[in-house]
Amino acid sequence: MAITSDAGQHMVERTGIGLRLPHIAEVVATRPPVGWLEIHPENFLANPHALELLTDLARDYPISVHTVGISIGSADGIDRVHLRRLRALIERLNPVLVSGHLAWSTVDGTYLNDLLPLPYTVETLRVVATHLAEVQDVLGRAYVIENPSTYVSLGTSTMTELQFLHALVNATSCRLLCDVSNVHLSGHNMGYDAYRFIDEFPAEAVAELHLGGFTAEDDEATPGGTLLVDTHAHAVAEPAWQLYAHAIRRFGPQPTIVEWDNDLPTLAVLTGEAAKSDRVRGASREDRHAHAR
Ligand SMILES: [Fe+2]
Repeated sequence: MAITSDAGQHMVERTGIGLRLPHIAEVVATRPPVGWLEIHPENFLANPHALELLTDLARDYPISVHTVGISIGSADGIDRVHLRRLRALIERLNPVLVSGHLAWSTVDGTYLNDLLPLPYTVETLRVVATHLAEVQDVLGRAYVIENPSTYVSLGTSTMTELQFLHALVNATSCRLLCDVSNVHLSGHNMGYDAYRFIDEFPAEAVAELHLGGFTAEDDEATPGGTLLVDTHAHAVAEPAWQLYAHAIRRFGPQPTIVEWDNDLPTLAVLTGEAAKSDRVRGASREDRHAHAR
């Protein structure tokens, strides 16, 4: 699923923003110069007014649908009612990308409101691959998988996250959303080299990049240590910008969005972050070309 349409090219050239409900009226009124909009469909499924506004915006901006309610790693299976509602929304918006997390969030039909870690095993690979095929079949389009933010390693894992992502791509030919901030914070939390992680990420499968803010908290398991938590409550931190520059040199220019969900800033601050992403990507692209010469 290479992004070759005009909309896709526009998304590569100009960073998008995660569109959250408090900003939507201002985005409708002012049409800020961002490349595209990524939405959480769960915010719109039961909000017809917001969906009307979004449908209007979809005429002017490429849209990406980023789900938080598809529990692709859940042993219980996919919620088919939710999946059908998602399909209806997608048919209405005709998004360029549809994506979700490598995680699980439901058990016995209850949503846990969290993206929980999966053990990286052959059995998990089978579950995720089966669910991915079901989701793509119902939605009628590719479903891009995002790397998680990680705080613990599960003793039952028999593969690293990178080995699992490679195995998933090999087994399903799926595309991946590389959340660069997740790589930075997971590298800090789990003690691995984030740059090496980017170097060894399945580059040929990358369809999108994410940037978001995180929060440093005391690590109760390690006296004096800090844990970086994927709160999306701050501007993108400098180490994540540097890692993003490295990711562009490695993957080439990719559709990128800045995510901000909590302690939401003004729209101007958020679009300023998107403009910074454009500058960082432009400079990294020059580096990439210079090295290629
Ligand atoms: Fe993300």
